[in-house]
Amino acid sequence: MSEQVIAFIGGGNMARSLIGGLIIDGHPPAALRVAEPDTERRERLAEEFGVQVFEENATAARGADAVILAVKPAMISAVARDLSQQIQAQGSLVISVAAGIRSRSLAEWLGGDVAIVRAMPNTPALVRTGSTALFANAAVAPEQHELAETTMRAVGIIVWLTQEDQMDAVTALSGSGPAYFFYTMEAMQSAGQALGLDAKTARLLTLETALGAARMALESSEEPAELRRRVTSPGGTTAAAIDEFDQANLLAIYARALEAAAKRAHALGDELEETE
Ligand SMILES: NC(=O)c1ccc[n+]([C@@H]2O[C@H](COP(=O)([O-])OP(=O)(O)OC[C@H]3O[C@@H](n4cnc5c(N)ncnc54)[C@H](OP(=O)(O)O)[C@@H]3O)[C@@H](O)[C@H]2O)c1
Repeated sequence: MSEQVIAFIGGGNMARSLIGGLIIDGHPPAALRVAEPDTERRERLAEEFGVQVFEENATAARGADAVILAVKPAMISAVARDLSQQIQAQGSLVISVAAGIRSRSLAEWLGGDVAIVRAMPNTPALVRTGSTALFANAAVAPEQHELAETTMRAVGIIVWLTQEDQMDAVTALSGSGPAYFFYTMEAMQSAGQALGLDAKTARLLTLETALGAARMALESSEEPAELRRRVTSPGGTTAAAIDEFDQANLLAIYARALEAAAKRAHALGDELEETE
């Protein structure tokens, strides 16, 4: 991997995951910088990863090829405004992982024609199995596309979006998606216990089944619907369960749930835009 300098503004969970992933991918720790106001957190990052740490955002961002905004969405406008002159002068790429913040808002706070990639990762990024959607504004150069891609790939898979408004669908699908699977696990575990299994056994069987099914689906060229059909013999045990799901109209429930999440993502985006 190249030795481009990447500066993180905010050294919390998401920054820590990206830093860990980038180092495993071979990015030199000396080319990674972090600005973090909390002294203890800052020192821990330096000790654990050997990255350069700073108290001031502007010092961390100085000369960086990419500046990753990894603070909470409510802090982004203030952070972006403070760095705007420096980023424009340097021509750095700005990558924002803040949920809901639109690239046009960022461009406004950064004060002009700045190269911006908006990223929407999800929490499995914390264990390097994230799914991240990326959107680049028109100012992003090809080598900056590549830098954004290799950076976010350090914590999982990435997909590029051609239209930013697809971010609401992404938020509904993969952003909130881990919670839907946790909910399913919760339901299966408690149903297993209701059938007489102890909690530990029900939990292990549920989690390993989830992992096994995900691996099979990823490794197979078949659609999940076909994989399901193959393990559902007419009149068998799986068919008995699927009949119950169908009677409750599970597919329609999922469609409604994701629609609600996408609507909420859009409304939150509006709110974040309006507060400024
Ligand atoms: N965690 C995820 O899985 C995930 C998934 C998708 C998107 N994201 C996005 O990633 C961003 C970061 O999330 P996170 O979970 O990493 O949050 P986090 O753990 O709270 O990290 C944010 C860090 O930034 C620091 N900070 C606050 N104000 C700052 C400032 N003005 N300048 C520099 N640093 C500042 C915070 O310090 P203090 O605690 O002292 O304020 C904290 O250490 C959010 O915008 C979130 O929407 C996260």
